Amino acid sequence: MKHLISISDLTKDQAVKLLDDAAELASVNEREVKKLPALRGKTVVNLFFENSTRTRISFEIAAKRLSADVINFSASTSSLSKGESLKDTAQTLEALGAHAIVVRHPYSGAAHALAHRGWISSSIINAGDGSHEHPTQALLDALTLRQAFGMSHDLAGLRALIVGDILHSRVARSNVLLLKLLGAEVTVAGPTTLMPKGIEAMGAKVSHNLDESLSQKPDAVMMLRVQKERMQGSFFPSEREYAKSWALTGERFSSLGENSVVLHPGPMNRGFEISSEAADSSKSLVLKQVANGVSVRMAVLYATLSGEAN
Ligand code: CP
Repeated sequence: MKHLISISDLTKDQAVKLLDDAAELASVNEREVKKLPALRGKTVVNLFFENSTRTRISFEIAAKRLSADVINFSASTSSLSKGESLKDTAQTLEALGAHAIVVRHPYSGAAHALAHRGWISSSIINAGDGSHEHPTQALLDALTLRQAFGMSHDLAGLRALIVGDILHSRVARSNVLLLKLLGAEVTVAGPTTLMPKGIEAMGAKVSHNLDESLSQKPDAVMMLRVQKERMQGSFFPSEREYAKSWALTGERFSSLGENSVVLHPGPMNRGFEISSEAADSSKSLVLKQVANGVSVRMAVLYATLSGEAN
């Protein structure tokens, strides 16, 4: 695997292998000496044009744990502010020795352009492109669900409910694709204004009533952040109205099934899309998701940079 741009690039076997590798690499993260020599001599550049806490830091830790050199590129202090293009920036980074570029960009398709327009030959890993995809987030969510439900292969039969701003969410898109690939049943729930047309074609059922969807006792409830930064105009009457219909409030949280779990990719807006009762409960997997980000990104960096034909 040379690049990871979209979950649709993966076969089921490749996805399961990445999860298996990540589960094995997680044991390295428990050791006192958390280093493997696997990517010694390789250079990974984190090229982030949008803010990030979890993704950027976990890619940095993952690369360092595999003994790669890591360069963190900050768009705000670079020559981008002098008008340099994405192509020239990427070619400059490759000339400086980058073997892999981990890219986050506000435009859907930016990672695909870097990988496939012939500008550079480095491996490209999509760390989130606009509202399109965030494939490593979906992989870390799948690993977290596998662990939570004691599943060792795929997620066959698991019932997942993804809630909120589906329209602007790259996390939702990558998760629908991966959960379906792994055999789960997926429902997306949100207001009509925040539901992308054609999401059913990706295999998801659509709901416009959260309480009704929760009454079906899904195994996993994945809450999404409302992405105000991608909204032009008004998609709901007020935050209060949105929360009334779509937040995982304390009351809704208490209606969940005994074994159900709650996920959120972060950053969370407590009191808006998720209550503290839900976020801080024993059902919440939020911090496990963050921790699994390191091992999943180690597996992805290894798969793209090791030259193995997996
Ligand atoms: N989940 C996620 O992508 O978080 P960051 O924006 O902090 O990287």
